[in-house]
Amino acid sequence: MNSYTWILAVVFLGSALVRVQGYGNGAPPSACDSMVPGHQGSKPQTIASPYTVSVQVSSYTPGQTVNVTVRGTEDFRGLLLQARKAGTDEVVGTFQTPPSKFKFRPCPDGGANNGITHIDTSTKNNMTFMWTAPSTGVGNVQFYGTVLKEKPTYWVKLTSSVISGEGGDSNGASSLLVHISSVIGTVLLAKIL
Ligand SMILES: *[C@@H]1O[C@H](CO)[C@@H](O)[C@H](O)[C@H]1NC(C)=O
Ligand SMILES: *[C@@H]1O[C@H](CO)[C@@H](O)[C@H](O)[C@H]1NC(C)=O
Repeated sequence: MNSYTWILAVVFLGSALVRVQGYGNGAPPSACDSMVPGHQGSKPQTIASPYTVSVQVSSYTPGQTVNVTVRGTEDFRGLLLQARKAGTDEVVGTFQTPPSKFKFRPCPDGGANNGITHIDTSTKNNMTFMWTAPSTGVGNVQFYGTVLKEKPTYWVKLTSSVISGEGGDSNGASSLLVHISSVIGTVLLAKIL
């Protein structure tokens, strides 16, 4: 083999290795935004998911820890779990040390420990993860999970119910509206009196 062939062979093997690790050792950072696994030739399932991402609470306060459970009528092998500001792509909060078979998957533009993924391809089910809200309010939050039953069968961005929290842009906008309407109300009242 000449040196070009060697370089090609090394690049090819290297990229094959990255793909395999992307599955076996958890979701790679490149999956952070789309939450789509990088397996070649696979597509997200469109039939109803046998898995759910659920929370027990309907609201939270800044700094509070909330349990998130991923379970299904069938076991799963892979997971990418995040909390996002509801209606946005912004990943928020941090997870506590996950149970065995899982590790942190930090994602860009959030803090460390802001995501969870699997470390191996063993079967898992009914797993609870503890998520801690940021200490300053970020508003309503929703959990997003991509669950891999087995390669190449997976469901992307399964969502929990929205849990409401104080702060954040959306709530900021509505409190501004309340403020403006109270100013208008005061002006009107001043005219009437
Ligand atoms: C949250 O999950 C942890 C770990 O499974 C458990 O020890 C704890 O009791 C749970 N907390 C609540 C409020 O359910
Ligand atoms: C899920 O796990 C919890 C605690 O480990 C257990 O009490 C519960 O029965 C399990 N639920 C299902 C559907 O397996």
